[in-house]
Amino acid sequence: MNGFRTLDDLGDVRGKVALVRVDLNLPMQDGTVTDDTRVRAAMPTILELADAGAKVLLLAHFGRPKGERVSTQSLSMVVGAVQDILGREVMFVPEVAGPVVEQAIGILRDGDIAILENTRFWKGEEKNDPELVEAIAANGDLYVNDAFSAAHRAHATTEGLAHVLPAYAGRSMQAELEALEKALGKPVRPVAAVVGGAKVSSKLDVLKHLVGQVDHLIIGGGMANTFLAAKGVDVGKSLCEHDLAPTVQEILAAADKAGCTVHLPYEVVVAKEFAANPPSLRTCNVHEVSADEMILDVGPAAVEALADVLKTCRTLVWNGPLGAFETPPFDAATVALAKIAAALSREGVLTSVAGGGDTVAALNHAGVAQDFTYISTAGGAFLEWMEGRELPGVAALSA
Ligand code: 3PG
Repeated sequence: MNGFRTLDDLGDVRGKVALVRVDLNLPMQDGTVTDDTRVRAAMPTILELADAGAKVLLLAHFGRPKGERVSTQSLSMVVGAVQDILGREVMFVPEVAGPVVEQAIGILRDGDIAILENTRFWKGEEKNDPELVEAIAANGDLYVNDAFSAAHRAHATTEGLAHVLPAYAGRSMQAELEALEKALGKPVRPVAAVVGGAKVSSKLDVLKHLVGQVDHLIIGGGMANTFLAAKGVDVGKSLCEHDLAPTVQEILAAADKAGCTVHLPYEVVVAKEFAANPPSLRTCNVHEVSADEMILDVGPAAVEALADVLKTCRTLVWNGPLGAFETPPFDAATVALAKIAAALSREGVLTSVAGGGDTVAALNHAGVAQDFTYISTAGGAFLEWMEGRELPGVAALSA
């Protein structure tokens, strides 16, 4: 990662217009924001700039309106939630460029905050159209990107603006990049990665990249079944991508070559039907799964063995649950291993970084999210980072 400028590098911003890209793609139900984590993440940057006297114009997308004005995807809907969290009045501006934005800037006093309309209402946003970039930039003096979770998109407001205005990483972007650098950039070894979730196919590039980066790769969830099957284990009627056996063989060979130990469960929790606390529930050796059973979690003895692995490690990257964690008791392995990781992090012996939608939900469910060294709010961007890809929004800040 190259160096990037942060808010510490800003001079006097009083009276200047700061265009601040944040992620307000918030989960909503019936017009109400159900999770405001992303607003809270952007709050330090917004308030720091406002308190320094800048006029803060927030740029963000919401949903995927594909270049059309869709009233149900207007950012006007999140203004109330943002005001509540910031504890400040926030103006809504129904455009992203042009005279309406200019007029709004005329009304705003130094230190005031406004949210501009959903950037994806304009076709040029996703196309990173230079005309739109110029039009938005015309109203700003500087650009701050505080939306790591949208940094895998090379769009006008996530990438283009960084090339035409003085560009800075916001506090949340800065914290994210510093944590990720510690986890996989220049990590203290040994490094472990936990990769779980339903399908190998959705995380192939993650696995391929990680075997060359980490010392221990712990595979859980439905993905583990695909690995086990590829090694000749009969996984019964478990979720499994049998056609991926050759790819899995390649990943295992690459791991072997790189000196990465791949950990698959040797003990599993199985049932004949996928339901909460099913009567057919049992724990068995991975070689004893019968044809009418499915693997739904890692067994407790196997979790203990994984805990022993974590205890030898100094850095951990976690993405994806170990079992079908939404349905009890198949959350047990994820919760148990997360608690071990949290305890090691609290003791200061482990740097633990986790990310991805399901993962954050799983760690919150385990009640340990606050003990991890860093939890990323990003979904797709976190995965692309785990694939070793350069994120365009980040690259533009480092240029
Ligand atoms: C997200 O919610 O992960 C980001 O805001 C990116 O959204 P997108 O996948 O629609 O680009």
